[in-house]
Amino acid sequence: MLTLIAPELESYAADHSTPESSIFSDLVKITHEKTDLPQMQVGRLEGALLRVLVRLTGAQRILEIGTFTGYSALAMAEGLPEDGRLITLDIDEKTNAIAREAWDKSPHGKKIEARLGPAVETIESLEGSFDMVFIDADKGNYTRYWDLVVPKMRAGGLIAVDNVLWSGRVLDPKDDSDRAIVAFNTHAANDTRVDCAMLTVRDGVLLAVKK
Ligand SMILES: C[S@@+](CC[C@H](N)C(=O)[O-])C[C@H]1O[C@@H](n2cnc3c(N)ncnc32)[C@H](O)[C@@H]1O
Repeated sequence: MLTLIAPELESYAADHSTPESSIFSDLVKITHEKTDLPQMQVGRLEGALLRVLVRLTGAQRILEIGTFTGYSALAMAEGLPEDGRLITLDIDEKTNAIAREAWDKSPHGKKIEARLGPAVETIESLEGSFDMVFIDADKGNYTRYWDLVVPKMRAGGLIAVDNVLWSGRVLDPKDDSDRAIVAFNTHAANDTRVDCAMLTVRDGVLLAVKK
């Protein structure tokens, strides 16, 4: 993945955010050993940002779309209060098993509930409202996920969306994923139900607060 700022500055920013525990560094190592696309993990800097956002919003109930090996889920769970809950969705059993092993090593893992299956169907079946949603799954469905979750957000709730700069390809879209992200970004920016700001952190993180 292209880093949007100099790699040394990206590392400096991560080094000057709250350090990750050994559970996370071990998970990064295992993810590199056992999966083909370890760069899908949000990593230290975005993980720290997500944890801060959970604390800032005082979130109690979080939905994550795109678990992978569980880095971002555990980062957000650390920011939740003891009775907070995070539901995370994915279709991949193999990466889910890696995630569960990591969560089991953390006292915060018990706050996480993983559900396997196509995310659209799972979201449709979810009841109640969310204080925070993190969208980080298949890019072709981003607009669909957005339209499903916005009505489920409480007023003042936060939606964070990953990879919205898509390694810079949003400026010159060539394939279906590029075009899907471009269409999503326009859709979200024009959605009057939320206030949005796009951050140039890592691969681009859109933050949107429900009005
Ligand atoms: C970028 S990764 C998520 C990374 C994760 N947030 C982390 O920090 O480790 C995207 C995930 O979306 C999942 N995914 C892809 N299509 C999906 C679908 N239709 N429903 C649910 N999950 C899906 C993939 O299996 C993959 O694990």
